[in-house]
Amino acid sequence: MGKLSNLTAIITGATSGIGKATAELFAREGANLVITGRRNYLGEAVAAQINRSGGQCLFLQADHTCIEDCEKTIQQTLNRFDKIDILFNNAGIVTRGSAETTSEEDWANTWDINVTAVWRMSRLVIPHMRNTGKGVIVNNGSDLSVVGARGFLPYATSKGAVALMTKSMALDHASENIRVNAVCPGDTFVERWLERGFYEHGTPTTPEEAMLRSATSLPMGRYALAEEVARVVLFLASDDSSFVTGHTLMVDGGKTAA
Ligand SMILES: NC(=O)c1ccc[n+]([C@@H]2O[C@H](COP(=O)([O-])OP(=O)(O)OC[C@H]3O[C@@H](n4cnc5c(N)ncnc54)[C@H](OP(=O)(O)O)[C@@H]3O)[C@@H](O)[C@H]2O)c1
Repeated sequence: MGKLSNLTAIITGATSGIGKATAELFAREGANLVITGRRNYLGEAVAAQINRSGGQCLFLQADHTCIEDCEKTIQQTLNRFDKIDILFNNAGIVTRGSAETTSEEDWANTWDINVTAVWRMSRLVIPHMRNTGKGVIVNNGSDLSVVGARGFLPYATSKGAVALMTKSMALDHASENIRVNAVCPGDTFVERWLERGFYEHGTPTTPEEAMLRSATSLPMGRYALAEEVARVVLFLASDDSSFVTGHTLMVDGGKTAA
């Protein structure tokens, strides 16, 4: 028996990165999974791999800034698995800019997916959790949920909002046995870093080398792996954290401890 046997989990934004690593871990722990994202080819590949390994995973192409796609995600999860026990609000984007340089479009897009989609998916899922008498929501925050950073104004403010949304939702639904927590990763090595390049410190020979060099200023001297964040999401999603709600759990190797 896995820690999530007989439970159904929705993971938003599981076509890559932390969402994908969490889907793979949840599947190994016995969860029935619905995973989402906009990139169809990647989502189908993640689901196929999980199903080949004996898991139960359905990929739904969905853009969570669109209410119809959110409603479709909930409905198709119920059609396939009858109930929803766990929602991991993971989908998000990183947007750079200061107060002066952030465009109206970047601000709106960032808040649409990083904040509004978290509220929207939670709003849609809570009635179904109430019907089954329990549920768990895990929101993906960031180290920037609790500290500021230069040049990341739209992202940091959106992730700060996720932290307080988590606490407020936890209080609203604690008496209904619906727990709401946030995982707050620090810099975590995901495929996206390789795609966009990460050459900020000299002229390293490989992206991996660039990342290792720029990680030397971090307390543990390295970045997280997506799997390390996924294990903490599993803790928050499972009964191992049965009396934990309203918590923002830093997974940042000590970065925000100072
Ligand atoms: N990596 C880090 O260092 C780090 C640190 C702190 C927090 N986080 C948080 O971790 C979460 C996952 O990010 P990641 O680092 O794993 O990067 P990632 O690989 O880019 O993952 C982001 C996921 O969100 C999905 N997504 C983005 N916009 C979406 C939309 N409108 N509708 C549906 N899905 C959408 C993407 O799928 P599609 O592109 O296929 O839609 C992708 O699956 C984010 O919330 C991020 O803020 C990451």
